[in-house]
Amino acid sequence: MSRRRDHGGVIFVDLRDRSGIAQVVFNPAVAPEAYEIADQLRSEWVIQVSGTVLRRPAGSDNPNMPTGDVEVMAQDIKVLNSSLTPPFYITDDVEADESLRLKYRYLDLRRPVMQRNLILRHRVVKYIRDFLDARGFLEIETPILINSTPEGARDFLVPSRMQKGSFYALPQSPQQMKQLLMVAGIEKYFQIARCFRDEDLRSDRQPEFTQLDLEMSFVDEEDILSLAEEMYTGMIESVAPEKKLTKPFPRLTHKEAISRYGSDKPDLRFGLEMTDITDLAGETEFRVFLSTIEQGGIIKGFVVPGLAQNTGSDMRRLDETARGFGAAGLSHIRFQGTGSLDDLAEDKVLLSPGVRMPVEWSSRVAQRMGASPGDLILLMAGQPRQVNVWLDAMRKYMGEMLGLADPDALAFAFITSFPLFEWDQNQNRWDSSHHPFTAPADDSEQLLESEDLGNIESKAYDLVCNGSELASGSIRIHHRELQEKIFKILGYTQEQVEARFGHLLEAFQYGAPPHGGIAPGIDRLVAILTGSESIRDVIAFPKTQSGSDLLFGAPSVVDSGQLRDLSIRLVE
Ligand code: AMO
Repeated sequence: MSRRRDHGGVIFVDLRDRSGIAQVVFNPAVAPEAYEIADQLRSEWVIQVSGTVLRRPAGSDNPNMPTGDVEVMAQDIKVLNSSLTPPFYITDDVEADESLRLKYRYLDLRRPVMQRNLILRHRVVKYIRDFLDARGFLEIETPILINSTPEGARDFLVPSRMQKGSFYALPQSPQQMKQLLMVAGIEKYFQIARCFRDEDLRSDRQPEFTQLDLEMSFVDEEDILSLAEEMYTGMIESVAPEKKLTKPFPRLTHKEAISRYGSDKPDLRFGLEMTDITDLAGETEFRVFLSTIEQGGIIKGFVVPGLAQNTGSDMRRLDETARGFGAAGLSHIRFQGTGSLDDLAEDKVLLSPGVRMPVEWSSRVAQRMGASPGDLILLMAGQPRQVNVWLDAMRKYMGEMLGLADPDALAFAFITSFPLFEWDQNQNRWDSSHHPFTAPADDSEQLLESEDLGNIESKAYDLVCNGSELASGSIRIHHRELQEKIFKILGYTQEQVEARFGHLLEAFQYGAPPHGGIAPGIDRLVAILTGSESIRDVIAFPKTQSGSDLLFGAPSVVDSGQLRDLSIRLVE
């Protein structure tokens, strides 16, 4: 029972179940005993009612409710259970703190919006299963108690009782298992797989999350991308037809994405594309630009249409925002005026802060960047990697501030040709951009022998949507020699390779077919489809930022007997 109202001697009850709300009427003139019981009802009690469904009296319809033109005239009522007063009111616009909602998750999940999220999640997974089944995929479960599988995070470890001092690691993904299934001749595999990663949590990251993990033999990149695109478009048209989908999904190489958007997961719902103007900046006498160029840096920025009329204090605020993202500052050009670029008057073009530039220079900048009179240009200077990070944050900020991102739009894109390796500054070694099993681009074998490792492209791809990475995959290495060469570049010793990956290398020697796959994150997709701010809202029992389950009180201390069985002694 959601709500009870007393109206002039007649009781109205909003009765809620998973499908929605129905109004039940208790009238003492119709059913005096039922009326007496109804008078005692409180929120969240569980009741069983029998009665007659009637059209509501003229004028008392509620057009905002799907059941708003009918009501149930109760004859009989049975109280199946009572309820304590809930710690928060069960409603979509709940005001309770999230930790209270997580502690009482079973009440939180009663809220209609949470039920809709779980229903949509079910439909997404059901669509995926049917779609892949119809294309000859087999759903196969793989173990949770296994060995370390590198995906860039820490492992969760489980101590073995039977083999004291040894540990299982929970899989960060089923990556190696799906590759072994390809060696096993399965050809087309998928799994709705739980993955475990001990990493810092954010609104789009949970320590355990769900992937659609899939793999196919005898495929190239195009086969995987077109299968994924067909699945996502069909699914969204089926489960969320109100969403605006751009088809076909655009494809950008990693280089293009970084150059145009400063990010490998750009939000393509709006433009604000970036342009490098390092050469033009070198013609100025602006000290910051010149010293940046001297140190091998770049000057890059984007045009914000129509914002030339921004005041000095607007610009100071934007400068502060940029500093908040870590940038040393923000330069800008305000192209006052309305006509064409030729109408720019010299005294109206000022490169901030305080550098007056000839109109001829300004119009070359405007032409390069696609600016017109009335527009504002924002520029940042620094080392390429940092400038891209700051500009990406600034672009997202401006997109949001100006309301450019349509909340109903789903702007998918494939990002392809990721670099095979990236330099890990902290550990002073090369690391895989995706994971070590990713195949290098066809013509790059020679480069693997060179010093030029940062320039090797891979056969890895991501699917992004509205600024979020939704899926990731690649064509894999399927020859022992190449896989060993990659491990060596990543700094593994022969012994480490043998201990951690010996089984995979050996399997590659028994006729491993060429193969590749992809792993779409289910939580992130459902969060985008439901407009949820955090993936916690689409997971029945999620963990908090610090990895706790507030309902179960996990993680928790265990009793000393359990530790003794495992031969574990705690240091503190
Ligand atoms: P990757 O590590 O990129 O690839 O993961 C694939 C997708 O899983 C989702 N995801 C997460 N979702 C919630 N919380 C997390 N902590 C989290 N981490 C990842 C993202 C991501 O795009 N084995 C490879 C895939 C492959 O090569 O086939 C892998 O796991 O949506």
